[in-house]
Amino acid sequence: MRTQVGIVGAGPAGLTLAHLLQLEGIESVVLESRSREYVEQRVRAGVLEQGTVDLLTQMGVGDRLARQGLVHRGIELGFAGKRERIDFAELTGGKSITIYAQHEVLKDLIGARMAYDGALLFEAEGFRIFGIENSPEVQFRQCGATQTLGCDFIAGCDGFHGICRAAIPESVLRIHEREFPFAWLGILANVAPASKELIYTYHERGFALLSMRSPEVSRLYLQCPADEKIAEWSEDRIWSELRTRMATNDHWNLSDGPITQMGITPLRSFVAEPMQYGRLFLLGDAAHIVPPTGAKGLNLAVADVRVLARALADFYRTGSRTRLERYSQECLRRVWKVQRFSAWMTRMLHRFPGEDSFAHNLHLAELDYVTSSRAAATTLAENYVGLSFAE
Ligand code: APR
Ligand code: PHB
Repeated sequence: MRTQVGIVGAGPAGLTLAHLLQLEGIESVVLESRSREYVEQRVRAGVLEQGTVDLLTQMGVGDRLARQGLVHRGIELGFAGKRERIDFAELTGGKSITIYAQHEVLKDLIGARMAYDGALLFEAEGFRIFGIENSPEVQFRQCGATQTLGCDFIAGCDGFHGICRAAIPESVLRIHEREFPFAWLGILANVAPASKELIYTYHERGFALLSMRSPEVSRLYLQCPADEKIAEWSEDRIWSELRTRMATNDHWNLSDGPITQMGITPLRSFVAEPMQYGRLFLLGDAAHIVPPTGAKGLNLAVADVRVLARALADFYRTGSRTRLERYSQECLRRVWKVQRFSAWMTRMLHRFPGEDSFAHNLHLAELDYVTSSRAAATTLAENYVGLSFAE
């Protein structure tokens, strides 16, 4: 099998790239180790930056998103028994975010790929990559048979646990990494969200987040120890802890409902550098992980895709490699700004082990500052809705 761009992984990065390349008349084959059902149902993030929404819309996969996505023009920050709103629209010249589950984005992209008969192989697991310096190939297994995909370029969109990053020689690859000493316990519950907008809360007992998936489904998170066992958390304990952390002086009420899913997510920051070697390019979680506090993972993956799609379009149209050679440098500039923002949000809103009253008061002062200074609030808002893209 042969194609122009071999894409390993059908997450947000791989599928968005395949679609953008198709619009440029560039052929690709997408290999995905999991089944279509698995990919279309796996619950992940759900916040789309304005630029991500604009791109999906321009690509022609924004119809359902426009109908079902929930547009939010701000978020609330909770601390010291009160809530303060950060008004994105007012602070950023009308920008907003959209709540639309990642697996819904994937369903839309898979549907579009099927509609134009683009090659997308499920249960096709890449296990070996070679020739990345001049004629790349991916070996994969599908239905028990081993096959080889030859291509001009490989796009490593295979997430944090994929095989592509490891194909870059150790002597070249630098890893920058930080593990946070806590995790998030996340639930999905069949109950109308108790707030119209997301609420990020700092409390002495730890962080809590109210988010949502639809007018009927709430998504909530609690900071918990990094080695927490999910079995320690009954439904009652989860709701009671959420109520304690999110309580306000004006007796705001969090309504509960049946929990349909729960899971624990570790928090880590990770950057692999460079994001390109020879004819292999890393995109999304294959190259970087951000802690979920700023809701940036999916958006950052899509930002890499923009850069690579444009560079490949240039190459196939004119033969120029200039943009391809600048890929890593250009992506990393944004990646580090987003790492900065996500780490800052995480530090501001979480309790670190051993924090004392001094640390507690610094958290409160920072939140007071961010919500009372227009300059500080604008900093949060412009990062949350998504930094603009350089031309
Ligand atoms: N061969 C084929 N496919 C693979 C392989 C492999 N060896 N290894 C992993 N994959 C697939 C996974 O099954 C997954 O569907 O690659 C895909 C990677 O998708 P994501 O992990 O979603 O990564 P990415 O597309 O970079 O999106 C990043 O998605 O899950 C979120 O938190 C993440 O928001 C971030 C964003
Ligand atoms: C989510 O809805 O899953 C979500 C929202 C905001 C975040 C992280 C996750 O910061």
